[in-house]
Amino acid sequence: MSIEVIRNSEDVLLMLDSLMREPAPFWDRFYQDRTKKVPFFVDAPDENLVGYVESGRLQGGRMLELGCGPGRNAIYAAAHGYEVDAVDISEEAIAWAKERAAERDIRIGFQCKSVYELQVEPSAYDLVYDSGCLHHLWPHRRVGYVEMIRQALKPQGYFGLTCFAPGFAEIGGALDHSDWEVYRERSMKGGQAYSQEKLLEIMGEAFELVEFREMKECDASEGLFGVPFLSASLWRKKG
Ligand SMILES: C[S@@+](CC[C@H](N)C(=O)[O-])C[C@H]1O[C@@H](n2cnc3c(N)ncnc32)[C@H](O)[C@@H]1O
Repeated sequence: MSIEVIRNSEDVLLMLDSLMREPAPFWDRFYQDRTKKVPFFVDAPDENLVGYVESGRLQGGRMLELGCGPGRNAIYAAAHGYEVDAVDISEEAIAWAKERAAERDIRIGFQCKSVYELQVEPSAYDLVYDSGCLHHLWPHRRVGYVEMIRQALKPQGYFGLTCFAPGFAEIGGALDHSDWEVYRERSMKGGQAYSQEKLLEIMGEAFELVEFREMKECDASEGLFGVPFLSASLWRKKG
């Protein structure tokens, strides 16, 4: 039987994947030069994550980081009361994250895998965290992604997200294009911007919104990461 037959909804997802850029080779190339001036290459955690921990809103437990890149948030959380699992599709990113964690003698369960293939332990995590991964995921994969996060979290567990905000394309953010536009163009053009309203549309059934704001701009000398073209939001699993 030809593999190009659509038999079920999984085949539809695979067909749509095939229209788009393959993520793993792209991200491996992206991470090959660690000296590039990429804002999130700094070795500092997200200012919002630090804020949630320092205010006592997040109180430790188990954390799953999705699209962890070189591990700056996973490492911060592991040093502040979390037992952390962290996943990224890029071998280069995971290798870098492991080096950073080893330098601090911090233990993290790293996995090199696509978030689409992740088999999560149900209701296992107090916190799922995504800093800049969702806005690179194809819209047709997002439904499964949000459901995977819901399954991974304990009841009332938190989901922390930073993603491109609309209106900042000129200073390094993403274009504010619709989901359908992504398929007309067969490209995400560097990522998708998400308004609060759009996030509520895709998250609102399973999660309640705790906080939504612009990320605060931070200087690396403060030991924090923050850029104005990202939003920071915190969600809580309903039920
Ligand atoms: C903008 S980077 C952010 C990295 C990291 N969270 C940080 O802020 O330092 C996006 C990350 O998502 C990862 N990624 C993209 N698509 C993915 C997928 N399908 N599964 C797992 N990781 C993915 C990339 O490899 C990359 O490391």
